[in-house]
Amino acid sequence: MSLIATDQTLSGSFDAFKESGPLKTGLPPSAYTDEKFWEAEKAKLFPASWVLVGFAHEMAKSGDTVPVTVGDSPLILVRNQDGSIKAFHNVCRHRCLKLVDSPQNVGRLLKCPYHAWAYGLDGALRSTPYFGGEEPNSVPEGFDPQEHGLKEVQCAVWYDWIFVNVSGDAQPFDEFVAPLKNRLDGLDFEKAKLVGVIDLGIVDTNWKFLMENFIEPYHVQFVHSSTTDQPLIDHYIVDDGHCQGSAVDLDDENEGGDGSGNTLAVSSRYLTLFPTFVFGRYFPDQMGVHLNIPVGPGKTLQRRAIYMTDGTELDTESAEKLKQLWIDVHKEDHEVCIRLQEGRKSTVADGGVLSTHWESSVRNFQEQVLEAVSK
Ligand code: FES
Ligand SMILES: [Fe+2]
Repeated sequence: MSLIATDQTLSGSFDAFKESGPLKTGLPPSAYTDEKFWEAEKAKLFPASWVLVGFAHEMAKSGDTVPVTVGDSPLILVRNQDGSIKAFHNVCRHRCLKLVDSPQNVGRLLKCPYHAWAYGLDGALRSTPYFGGEEPNSVPEGFDPQEHGLKEVQCAVWYDWIFVNVSGDAQPFDEFVAPLKNRLDGLDFEKAKLVGVIDLGIVDTNWKFLMENFIEPYHVQFVHSSTTDQPLIDHYIVDDGHCQGSAVDLDDENEGGDGSGNTLAVSSRYLTLFPTFVFGRYFPDQMGVHLNIPVGPGKTLQRRAIYMTDGTELDTESAEKLKQLWIDVHKEDHEVCIRLQEGRKSTVADGGVLSTHWESSVRNFQEQVLEAVSK
């Protein structure tokens, strides 16, 4: 991997990171706090990547439309009449007004509130009233509506998860998900059932801290002692290109835990896809996905969708109990991630030093970050 010089465009030095010897340092504080680094992530990293932007079940009906932002680009996700989900730049082709500003069902047409240009759910421009003059259907000479449809953005839906790639030149989606798909151990999405989505709100930390925290299992037995019962040494590291995380294989799912059902002590997969996709599987019957939306260098919006993988429909009490368990786990993670962010304000803060055993995948994640913003 080539880590090219970034110092002209990014404030702060990455020399120590690039030059670290057998003991690896982490990214310097500026990568988490600096506006310039954040601007580079918005301009380069997120648009070039496959980014999770939403849950398909939240836009179930034809005409359901959800505005999202990737980098600085306003986008819209639209459920079409054929059931497919498409993504477009959220920009009217007349005068570039942001078309949709809140989730809504638009019926069959996306109508601009300014001069009433209307687009089909497929993005095609359908009407431009009085554009050519006094006649309602007139258009100026040389104007071809076919050339003025909404600009489409590359979009892929995998099970309940909607991804977009703004640049259009990320690797093919199948290749992107392959390293995670290969670790699903026969998981059948047809059988899976949504339990619910937890809104965790804005967390005062950089998005990378949430990712790194999920990738490394080193903290689990210390931070989650009240919600999990998985000894560190049961974990092994997954470090496979842009798929990073860890896993635990236990022989007997009924072993471990305190027997109360209030803790997690099961075989698990904690897997990520660069940059922001987080997938957890908890045997025998649960999985979860984090929707991480970076909104500033020190702020990340987080939601979590919980699913039963065997199709079990939980009663309300069990569903609430499960949601509360996950809220508690996330809170434990948020607390340390917020303090990671706060620690970066210190004059003595640097890249720290990473465990060559437990945090090698964190380091590889960080190298991918630096490579993506350096392009
Ligand atoms: S800006 Fe959309 S119709 Fe004029
Ligand atoms: Fe954690």
